[in-house]
Amino acid sequence: MVVKKRVEMIDLPKYLCWIKSDCAVMWHSCPRVKVTASFTADPAPAFNSVTAFAPATVANLGPGFDFLGCAVADASLSLGDTVTATLDPTLPPGTVAIASVTSPSRPSLADRLSRDPLRNCAGVAAIAALRALGVQSHAVSIHLTKGLPLGSGLGSSAASAAAAAKAVDALFGSRLPRDDLVLAGLESEKAVSGFHADNIAPAILGGFVLVRSYDPFHLIPLSSPPALRLHFVLVTPDFEAPTSKMRAALPKQVAVQQHVRNSSQAAALVAAVLQGDAGVIGSAMSSDGIVEPTRAPLIPGMAAVKAAALEAGALGCTISGAGPTAVAVIEGEEKGEEVGRRMVEAFANAGKLKATATVAQLDRVGARVISTSSLE
Ligand code: HSE
Repeated sequence: MVVKKRVEMIDLPKYLCWIKSDCAVMWHSCPRVKVTASFTADPAPAFNSVTAFAPATVANLGPGFDFLGCAVADASLSLGDTVTATLDPTLPPGTVAIASVTSPSRPSLADRLSRDPLRNCAGVAAIAALRALGVQSHAVSIHLTKGLPLGSGLGSSAASAAAAAKAVDALFGSRLPRDDLVLAGLESEKAVSGFHADNIAPAILGGFVLVRSYDPFHLIPLSSPPALRLHFVLVTPDFEAPTSKMRAALPKQVAVQQHVRNSSQAAALVAAVLQGDAGVIGSAMSSDGIVEPTRAPLIPGMAAVKAAALEAGALGCTISGAGPTAVAVIEGEEKGEEVGRRMVEAFANAGKLKATATVAQLDRVGARVISTSSLE
């Protein structure tokens, strides 16, 4: 029995009414629900527990501001977040609770994340997924393991949301269509970093994704030829660039010439991904004349880091997401270490910032189930 303490309208997921009890949150349909329940059948669980991983993402890719992104991963799957969703009979049916948040590589980070499911990226996405599934008779506890730093430009919030939506969906038999999974994650993104799907879509689908429109919701996955050996050198300085601050810095107006130049580069980038042309992917990514020029000065050393990457042989370099991570593109991983070393050096010399480099590859899989435990 749910103790109905208060009903609150939240602005961000303004489509939802939430009914909140002390320890959990349940969804309750209201007239403006955006992610509608795909199933009304109150599905039976398929597992007792499911663990899902979702990769880091590089959004914007230069001129693709807010509409292009891709998923990236390293061999050990440390570049991403993991969520375990477990059936919890101690909670009121239809509710979600955050049971734990850990961050093995950055223990202090876990303390900064809320255990309130309405204020936690994984919690919001899990609630939205439960709602889309139509689950009414079961409740879910979430264990979140953060592999990604916060506010780094690597889609940290999207990775938590994607892993949560994937784990909850798999718990009930993987019933949600692709777009519903993305929309569940998008509700979470909207709550924390703004209404843009360029991180959450590739975090769920993998590969490169073009977000064509929201109404109607239309994603276009861009499949690149398997022979394309694209690698990404991700250099993250000890510096936080909150997405809200970096979005506040965006230009309010854009000249038609700038628009034409950026659009042609974004179109070239899309064509190059489809054709598997790493050189054009790199040069197009490097050519944003609208967003990067306003954000780069807010990240100490970024201009020098980009110059260092290109001098070291990268095909292109830009800000990853809202920053502060700098992303350089290379073909094959051979040059990765040297490009990373030069970029780290540039952050130290020009920005007085300590930075770490990781060489990742395109992750073509996206959010995936990595383990399950059966129903008893
Ligand atoms: N497209 C977004 C931005 C990604 O650049 O603001 C960051 O979340």
